[in-house]
Amino acid sequence: MFLKIFIITRLLAQSIWAAQTVLRFGCSQIVVERLDPLVNPGTNHSPHVHQVTGGNAFSASVASSDVFKIANCTTCSFSEDLSNYWNANLYFKARNGTYKRVPQVPNRGLTGEVGGMTVYYTSPYDGSKVTAFKPGFQMLAGHAEQRVPGGVTQWNAICFRCYNAKNFGGENQAPCSDKTVDSVSLSTKACPGGICTNIRFPTCWDGVNWDSADHLSHVSYPASKASEDNGPCPSTHPVKLPQLMFEVIWDTTSFNDKSLWPTDGSQPFVFSMGDNTGYGQHGDYIFGWKDNVLQKAMEVGCFGASCSALKTQSFSDANKCAVPDEVKEPIDGWISTLPGMSM
Ligand SMILES: *[C@@H]1O[C@H](CO)[C@@H](O)[C@H](O)[C@H]1NC(C)=O
Ligand SMILES: *[C@@H]1O[C@H](CO)[C@@H](O)[C@H](O)[C@H]1NC(C)=O
Repeated sequence: MFLKIFIITRLLAQSIWAAQTVLRFGCSQIVVERLDPLVNPGTNHSPHVHQVTGGNAFSASVASSDVFKIANCTTCSFSEDLSNYWNANLYFKARNGTYKRVPQVPNRGLTGEVGGMTVYYTSPYDGSKVTAFKPGFQMLAGHAEQRVPGGVTQWNAICFRCYNAKNFGGENQAPCSDKTVDSVSLSTKACPGGICTNIRFPTCWDGVNWDSADHLSHVSYPASKASEDNGPCPSTHPVKLPQLMFEVIWDTTSFNDKSLWPTDGSQPFVFSMGDNTGYGQHGDYIFGWKDNVLQKAMEVGCFGASCSALKTQSFSDANKCAVPDEVKEPIDGWISTLPGMSM
């Protein structure tokens, strides 16, 4: 009897959850400025520059719920995704001490984005139940002030890929897992095809709080296994979330001339928070999908940038979505210090 119920339950569970979803879609840059409504709400300016993608509700303060009702458009190709996704910018530091922002470029297989990033939402490989984020949900991945390995890097949650050739050099597709081209800090070599960074968010939730004071403790990385292996959740955070991941491609190729690099053999790229190690790479997320569509998409088994449960828009429409630059300071061209930094 027990076995029979167990088998029926397993079969039911499989028929409901068996199809894995991997959403992989582009979001153009909506603004590049020093605002961070998650870490420095209401503050103009925040300490360092970010590139922001997603819905037009983005400003110094973002409502803690129902973002999809405040925003009217999005730079993402899924038009019902009014979420905001943001990450630190990468700058090149010249020998004369001035900085230039490194452009982000569209990812392999995606075209039409202006800067921006590729966003992934992945359900568990084994087809088990996944609970999508809800209005008010927000979280961080990584620590802007981290400069040494450990912490988030032990999960391979944040890594860099040094591309052998432009726009994906034929390396193993799973990021963070190929030790010949991947590292948890910025490469000390020039990367012929540019630098890709992956930022994986925690996949386990406490089941109660949409947010927490540090924007981290309501969620957790898996109890075991590396982040990309979708390991089991710890008992403190038992609810499995979709794996949210950012992938940003930095076109560093116009800065690869070694005669421009530091004479001491170090590498010249530095993040907007003054980090030239890469250990401080981080991402911020404010959930803003319409209604219950993300949950449906995670259950139907979709791959890539189209999904029967979701509406899409062209990038010519997505790229019309804008938010005003509220900070108004030079962030491009050759600049003498990183915006907001004394260096
Ligand atoms: C979206 O439209 C509503 C209603 O027209 C308006 O009140 C709101 O300010 C708009 N939001 C943004 C971010 O432009
Ligand atoms: C600093 O170096 C860069 C790169 O070599 C160059 O383009 C720029 O003009 C220089 N700026 C100054 C003020 O010398």
